[in-house]
Amino acid sequence: MSLSIVILAAGKGTRMKSDTPKVLHPISGKAMLFHIIDESLKLSSNITVVLSHKFDMVKELLESEYSGLNIVKQDLENFPGTGGALKGLEFKSKKVLVLNGDMPLVKADSLKELTDTNSDIAMTILELDNPTGYGRVVIENGFAKEIVEQKDCTKEQEKIKSVNAGVYCFNGEVLNEFVPKIDNKNAQNEYYLTDIIKMAVDSGKKIEPIVVDEDEFMGVNSKYHLSIAQDFMQDRIKQELMESGVIMRNPKSIYIDCKAKFIGECNLENGVAIEGECIIENSHIKAHSVIEESKITNSSIGPMAHIRPNSTIKDSHIGNFVEVKKSTLNDVKAGHLSYLGDSEIDSGTNIGAGVITCNYDGKAKYKTKIGKNVFVGSDSQLVAPVTLEDNTMVAAGSTITENVPSGSLAITRVKQKQVDGFFNKFFRK
Ligand code: UD1
Ligand code: MG
Repeated sequence: MSLSIVILAAGKGTRMKSDTPKVLHPISGKAMLFHIIDESLKLSSNITVVLSHKFDMVKELLESEYSGLNIVKQDLENFPGTGGALKGLEFKSKKVLVLNGDMPLVKADSLKELTDTNSDIAMTILELDNPTGYGRVVIENGFAKEIVEQKDCTKEQEKIKSVNAGVYCFNGEVLNEFVPKIDNKNAQNEYYLTDIIKMAVDSGKKIEPIVVDEDEFMGVNSKYHLSIAQDFMQDRIKQELMESGVIMRNPKSIYIDCKAKFIGECNLENGVAIEGECIIENSHIKAHSVIEESKITNSSIGPMAHIRPNSTIKDSHIGNFVEVKKSTLNDVKAGHLSYLGDSEIDSGTNIGAGVITCNYDGKAKYKTKIGKNVFVGSDSQLVAPVTLEDNTMVAAGSTITENVPSGSLAITRVKQKQVDGFFNKFFRK
């Protein structure tokens, strides 16, 4: 194959201040590393991922999601640094695209621009007002001469605003020649991949700098960067969705997972969060509702409703302060203040205010089945496992512990009694 891709993801990510390896931190619901792998797969199936920090954990996660990746372990102790990451690898393809695992915003189309050049090395440059943290690129007569890491910069070099974005397309031969020569004589005693640039220049090679955008090529090194990358990606996701027909009121206040899908005309009000793999079709999600890994079709949800994972809601109205979990609702109204968990509710059924499915006895979870045309009166508790058959009623304030047969009313509340004159007696008026 003429193009292979190497993704560097072995670093500790010290600046993240986290037990989670840096490249596993999610952006819009997907690990940074997975974002870049997904884009890479659009260009080549020959992908090597270099890991080391928490190797077993990251490897297992990768293998559960992808097949055919070449996963290698960097000797981080003896050969730390982005150059150390490539030591020991053999490059057989004509072109080798080197990517960083901490760049979740990069798109395959932009990478193609890099792989399409015929230079020995093409490298990416960001022009930044604030270059802090990045390697500075010395450019002369339109060609890159050298990359100097922040910690090795002179005062003058620190002022350079052209920085190394960290993505390169190398001729495979160039890597085979120069990677073994990278040393660790620098402020961090690390093996810098960036040192190849100067070595290649000294041996007469030309390095083509390609200016790229920060909103695509920024590197994530801290939780602050994570939040910036998140914003960029959210803007991107929402713009695409709005262009394909989703209405958003105050989009900045809305969060949408990159795996969520929208069909038909949907409307998202302010403060809505769509988490995980949701499918939302022709539905209106009102302000401050949270939908997690669920399917919503032809329904209105909220305001302030919480739809938890594995719910399927069709032709229904879910009102304020209603929580639904792992339930299937078909043509149902649940307008106010309810908990519907592990339940199946069929068409024409009305769930009154404050109804609760008591699905948990402290040890196990049980199901509540509610048939067609059932009227569940307000403030009732349905103690699972329990079934309300088609065409039944539950009187308000009942605690239902037994199945309700079709056609009947269930009522469990104590009969009301009146005590004459009690008020005046009690308050001694
Ligand atoms: C690197 C570049 C810098 C550039 C910046 C862009 C070097 C020496 N510096 O710096 O010029 O401006 O990226 O974001 O290359 N990694 C390994 N093994 C290691 C160290 C890192 O695989 O031993 C991986 C990390 O997991 C990460 C990527 O390489 O995905 C970049 O590492 P990072 O430590 O973030 O490099 P920077 O200091 O940002
Ligand atoms: Mg970085």
